[in-house]
Amino acid sequence: MTILAIETSCDETSVAIVKDGHILSNIISSQYIHNKFGGVVPEIASRSHLNAISLVTKEALEHSGLDISDINAIAATTEPGLIGSLVVGTNFAKGLSLRFNLPVVPVNHIEGHLFSGFINNTDLHFPFIALVVSGGHTILFEVSNFNSYKIIGHTIDDAAGEAFDKTAKLIGFTYPGGPLIDKYAKKGNPEKYKFPRPLINSLDFNFSFSGLKTSVKYFIAKNFPEGVKEGDYPDLCASIQEAIVDVLVSKSLIAAKSRGINQLVVSGGVSANSRLREKLSKFSEDYSIEVFIPEFQYCMDNAAMIGFLASKKIEELGLYYFFDLKFTASPNVFRRKALK
Ligand code: KG4
Ligand code: ZN
Repeated sequence: MTILAIETSCDETSVAIVKDGHILSNIISSQYIHNKFGGVVPEIASRSHLNAISLVTKEALEHSGLDISDINAIAATTEPGLIGSLVVGTNFAKGLSLRFNLPVVPVNHIEGHLFSGFINNTDLHFPFIALVVSGGHTILFEVSNFNSYKIIGHTIDDAAGEAFDKTAKLIGFTYPGGPLIDKYAKKGNPEKYKFPRPLINSLDFNFSFSGLKTSVKYFIAKNFPEGVKEGDYPDLCASIQEAIVDVLVSKSLIAAKSRGINQLVVSGGVSANSRLREKLSKFSEDYSIEVFIPEFQYCMDNAAMIGFLASKKIEELGLYYFFDLKFTASPNVFRRKALK
């Protein structure tokens, strides 16, 4: 079963070739054009997907060593995300389907992240706790199997990646600032400044990051009225990063422990953060919890995770189930499934 998978939910145009659940290629073209605008501009994102998608598809096929005639099914992210971006990938998939008489498997982007821990990893098994942490989402799941999971906590305001990016912008970094905070923090003292760790002691598994942004804003105005200078970056970045990471680590490990689950998957762009990885591996030993963080190309927005999940859907429902092209793209549909 060979699948050509397409991901265009935000600002990465990605196409992957997935054969029997194994990733043969995973091409990701990031749209750096947004950097100068301080965030993703939806209209520019859709146009950029349109410009890139044919070439990215061609490259994914070339890297896999296969031809379009070797493909048995198409998969595409249909929800959630920027609607104009989703429409490009969804309709490109439908076009390929009509041209080559192939079925199309519609895939939910968050579900793609949720099960990405299985890519190149045979040790992971159900049940597990999953933290999906990106620029748009911070959600904790309890996952029982491919069809059964429930949300046990989520951010009530900003996503963690948004907190990284917005505080980075206050320091003066370009978008996305998360990787820059990570970079400068490596040389800084995380104890130098004390920023709030919202909801860290709350009895639920929800997150809140908008207060941190406000606190950093006032802190900078008071302590660096002339603007933050390069020499101040390390301690400031390390202290901001520590506040975000402490909350993510504490909530995820307590969620797993309290449910008697000993595996935790962390996915989404923020899982690239080096301090998050360091603290998770340090504290997971104390909690006897095994932490799985997919390789970075499968953590960020990528089509491999979409193709991988599509292969599981085909295993369950069969190819013929997916010849109906009536599905549409949707910006915010996220089905909350009851845990069986
Ligand atoms: O999953 P992703 O590629 O796209 C979506 O948001 O869906 O995640 C991007 C987010 C951005 O907020 C970016 O700043 C953050 O992930 N990010 C990081 C790091 N690398 C990416 N945040 C902190 N440290 C990093 N090393
Ligand atoms: Zn994502």
